[in-house]
Amino acid sequence: MDKKLNIDLQRVPNHVAVIMDGNGRWAKGKGMNRIFGHRNALTAIRQVADASSEIGVKFLTMYAFSTENWKRPKLEVDALMSLLISTLKKELPEFQRKNVKVNAIGNLTSLPKNAQKVLEDVINSTKNNTKITLTFALSYGSREEIVNAIKNISKKVVNKEVNIEEISEKTINNHLYTFNLPDVDLMIRTSGEQRISNYLLWQMAYAELYFTDILWPDYREEHYYDAIIEYQNRERRFGKTSEQITE
Ligand code: IPE
Ligand code: IPE
Ligand code: MG
Repeated sequence: MDKKLNIDLQRVPNHVAVIMDGNGRWAKGKGMNRIFGHRNALTAIRQVADASSEIGVKFLTMYAFSTENWKRPKLEVDALMSLLISTLKKELPEFQRKNVKVNAIGNLTSLPKNAQKVLEDVINSTKNNTKITLTFALSYGSREEIVNAIKNISKKVVNKEVNIEEISEKTINNHLYTFNLPDVDLMIRTSGEQRISNYLLWQMAYAELYFTDILWPDYREEHYYDAIIEYQNRERRFGKTSEQITE
């Protein structure tokens, strides 16, 4: 049966954030090295991006490399960086054809120069696309993001551009890497781990969390639709009572 038919297209999450986890274990299960797992992650990324466009998700944010991932063996980090470069190059015509606007969040200047260059090119060439905003979190850490925001706001206070009394949630939002993205509605993590791993802490304050045991390279659109259907079965109360929501 086509799972998509069970989705209420009027109530799709506006912003879905994904922690693509389990590449290493997937490869290990096949007697291969971890890098083989990363190389097999692209089909899942494509399927989730296409499925998102199809049902009308406007923002999709994919955790591709965390600030903590720099601690992995150099060979793996290098492989991930070159995969990033080759994938972005390869996918650019597809992003254009599918009207996808590519965006990136994280400490982007810590990426290798050639990766920064390709990323810049792809972001720039897709900036007028309108179907969906596909954000890659690269060298991303939520705590680092918040520290940066505090530094930048403090500078403005010192320069008298911002008055302390006027600092609000909106001020903080505007100084995060995600300043141009809405709050996360649904967070999906694959591979059975049930943690947030320093991802979008502020932005996920009221997100619905969804965990699945599927390893990322095996993740397909039907799994994604399962997550969307589960999301639609939850009652998002935002602190109110159930009666207030359903009235
Ligand atoms: C997710 O898969 C990809 C990245 C973190 C870059 P992992 O590489 O974390 O795979 P596991 O968790 O070791 O299986
Ligand atoms: C989180 O996965 C980061 C990405 C998916 C890019 P990890 O596999 O690095 O997370 P932990 O360290 O196991 O929590
Ligand atoms: Mg992992």
